[in-house]
Amino acid sequence: MSRLTSDKDESGSSPQLIPVTAFDLVVFGAAGDLSLRKLIPSLFHRWRDNQIPSESKIIGVSRTKLDDEGFRALALASFKKFHPSEEVDAGEWKAFASQLFYTQIDAADAAADWFGLTDRLAGCEAKQRIFYLALPPGLYGAVSANLAKAGLKSKGARIVLEKPIGRDLASATEINEAVGAVFDEDAIFRIDHYLGKETVQNLIVLRFMNSLFDPVWNANAIDHVEITVAESIGAGGRASYYDTAGALRDMVQNHMLQLLCLVAMEPPLDLEPDTVRDEKIKVLRALRPITAENARQATVRGQYGEGAADGEAVPGYNDELGANSDTETFVAIKANIDNWRWKGAPFYLRTGKRMKNRRSEIIIQFKEVAHALAGNGTEELAPTRLVIRLQPDEGVRLLLVTKDPGPGGMRLRYVPLNLSYADAFSARYPDAYERLLMAVVRGDLGLFMRRDEVEAAWRWVDSILAAWQTDKIPAHQYAAGTDGPVQSAMLMDRDGREWFDGAGS
Ligand code: BG6
Repeated sequence: MSRLTSDKDESGSSPQLIPVTAFDLVVFGAAGDLSLRKLIPSLFHRWRDNQIPSESKIIGVSRTKLDDEGFRALALASFKKFHPSEEVDAGEWKAFASQLFYTQIDAADAAADWFGLTDRLAGCEAKQRIFYLALPPGLYGAVSANLAKAGLKSKGARIVLEKPIGRDLASATEINEAVGAVFDEDAIFRIDHYLGKETVQNLIVLRFMNSLFDPVWNANAIDHVEITVAESIGAGGRASYYDTAGALRDMVQNHMLQLLCLVAMEPPLDLEPDTVRDEKIKVLRALRPITAENARQATVRGQYGEGAADGEAVPGYNDELGANSDTETFVAIKANIDNWRWKGAPFYLRTGKRMKNRRSEIIIQFKEVAHALAGNGTEELAPTRLVIRLQPDEGVRLLLVTKDPGPGGMRLRYVPLNLSYADAFSARYPDAYERLLMAVVRGDLGLFMRRDEVEAAWRWVDSILAAWQTDKIPAHQYAAGTDGPVQSAMLMDRDGREWFDGAGS
């Protein structure tokens, strides 16, 4: 099978593990949220599935004062907190934890003593070595340089960088230069965890391996595309980081644009990492820049106020933050892709925190039929829609207009052709980080962002940031637990369209 589905067997029905060679993984920022919530639990799951060879070491590094036992206890407590429904057998955890170590280093400090780490890694130069930087991006350059100075960059060593890479094109370029001065591009794995999601991987298969879609996947047949990534959680404990980013930098620059690329790109010649990335970057380059003249029509900024989530009253963003901030927690954008395939078919992007439901969906809205043949209710039915649901309940639905059976004339309604992943496949879907971590060990770059992709995405996002600044676009308030500010509906309404909210499906 292809690289992008390489975790599945030929029939696609049951997961098949690809063995990896022994490795040493050094996680910087090991006592932080990402490491404890995602990375260590993902490694535990891979270990449980026998995918982590016993000679491998996972070494946590951070400024926090801890020893091996303290780190193991912290990791276990976090695992239980974030996976409350999973049983963890004490003996099983002990065996996993025997591969888990900890070293206290301030890795960004050029004068720090690296002895603890060099000592642990001494004699392991032949093993695949990976450095995972779960750190603020401003530290990536300094940590890379310090790693090299400490003599830790063994032959073939790889580095993993979390998003966001910078906060604009200039800072991203600076980071890429600094890391690139130490590691070659093919040793740099820039994470966008959406690329590790099962359903995101399936987008390529759905589009290019079903002949049904190819002839209609363009502006001749498609009216527009919607991409919604709605979260019900707020900024919460991450508010101080989030306030420096906002929804545009946190979600659109990376996850949303990656989804847009996979929906919009031309068919790649094969599934080699660079062939796919070459096609994605063409889409990013074809995105029409947003200007101060059209930013008010083409974009909406929003910020949640107090409201309700899961039936409970919740505070607004500024109350959570404890400051009066204008940072957007919601953004909607009308994006135009200026190329042959998409001329005239806009992509509407929408993402926000504290929205009604957690829901990530891509809607392909086809054009109306040339001439409606009548039937009462016809005018209320929108044309065919393909709904690709990424989360929470993964699946693909083709909403077709059909005749209500029985007497009563030509009454029409939507009936979905439904592919529910839960019904069709019994396998547990590994968390995106499980797949991504193993892809780094294997050296599979296909699920990671290349330098030019990241920079092209920033170039477009910078046009929006500049327009917002010039035109002083405010963040409109919306109540927590709703669909975002009313201006978001107006953005669609101006084009005679409305966001698909799942009704009727
Ligand atoms: C992260 C963002 O990259 O993605 C978070 O920084 C966001 O703000 C998260 O909550 C969403 O990921 P997922 O996998 O829950 O959709």
